[in-house]
Amino acid sequence: MNEQSNRPNRQAAGTQQHFAERFGAHPDGVWAAPGRVNLIGEHTDYNEGFVLPFAIPHHASVAVRRTADGVLRVAGRQDVAGHGAVEVDLARLVAADGVRVAAELPGWARYVAGVFWSFGQSSREIGGLTAGYEIVVDSSVPIGAGLSSSAALECAVAVAVDDLANLGYNRRDLVLVCQRAENEFVGAPTGILDQSASLLSEAGHGLFLDCRTRVSRPVPLALAETGLQILVIDTKVSHAHESGGYGQLRQACETGAQILGVPALRDVGVGELCDAEAVMPGQIFARVKHIVTENQRVLDVVALLETEPFDAAALGELLTSSHVSMRDDFGNSCPEMDLAVETAVAAGAHGARMTGGGFGGSAIALVKASEADAVRDAVVRAFAEAGHAAPDVFPVLPSAGARRVS
Ligand code: GLA
Repeated sequence: MNEQSNRPNRQAAGTQQHFAERFGAHPDGVWAAPGRVNLIGEHTDYNEGFVLPFAIPHHASVAVRRTADGVLRVAGRQDVAGHGAVEVDLARLVAADGVRVAAELPGWARYVAGVFWSFGQSSREIGGLTAGYEIVVDSSVPIGAGLSSSAALECAVAVAVDDLANLGYNRRDLVLVCQRAENEFVGAPTGILDQSASLLSEAGHGLFLDCRTRVSRPVPLALAETGLQILVIDTKVSHAHESGGYGQLRQACETGAQILGVPALRDVGVGELCDAEAVMPGQIFARVKHIVTENQRVLDVVALLETEPFDAAALGELLTSSHVSMRDDFGNSCPEMDLAVETAVAAGAHGARMTGGGFGGSAIALVKASEADAVRDAVVRAFAEAGHAAPDVFPVLPSAGARRVS
């Protein structure tokens, strides 16, 4: 087992020990769910289009014990020193208006409670859900880095509760449970990309997902075998999708679809863009153009990866075009991100792009493994010269999705 794939088991031991210290008992088990990078297909998910993410080795883990007192007690491993656990009455939480409880909770605890609330809206096994739970949360997914730390936490809680309460959901339905928690309980109007990546990914593969039909298939992503690496460049510019830009972009896409008289931008082809430009304001057209061309790029990348041996240079070009499309048309990049992408490509990367919702977070760069250090050094140097905070640069391998680890 390599260093990256063994991480969840090592973290689980720490989470388990912390649980014992915090709650004075052994947990029933530990469940882990990964963060993700999106190889390509940005903002296409809520436009019912295509995405191609993969799970990364960084993950959230939860040690959980089912109790019988009707209370949800949640403690974070990192921030418990001196703090009590967050306590929530489960019957109140899973009630139809339980969404009001969100306002009483600290940010991170909303992702945990939100999953209980969301299960409560769709499950008939309310007794199992409201029995009582003690949970210790730990995570190695950097927060605010565009790597889906929140979805990782939701998905870890969802697989744990589904197991312990015998709720019997399949993975595709758990995606919707977690998305609903994020949309309605936390209040971030996001799509199904992150939760799908966390729950459905397979090691060594990307996850090609049609967000309209929710049909997915693994696509081989043999990086190490072909002498390649994907570097994450965490720009340290933090983002939050509960507020601001993300919702506005989503609205612009909906307006574009309405003007064109289609259910979603998924229904517009690249060949129709010329006509579209004539019937809408310039800024809406720019957003539409990104989505329409991005959907095509996802299909092109899947076709490339399914041809052996795949053409790394062509893949890199598609990644960089995706970035240029976000920078120039979608308007969700930022100067630090553009610098990361331009510097990585100038230093020899096959291609690079921002990954995730944008307005900060991380870029990914496809590099020859032998050139990874040179690319990292060039980016770190460029950030220092521009007076930006030092970025974190690290390689990621496509990893397994959520699972029980002890
Ligand atoms: C965030 C959202 C996803 C998706 C991406 C952009 O990560 O949570 O649903 O929209 O942004 O592709």
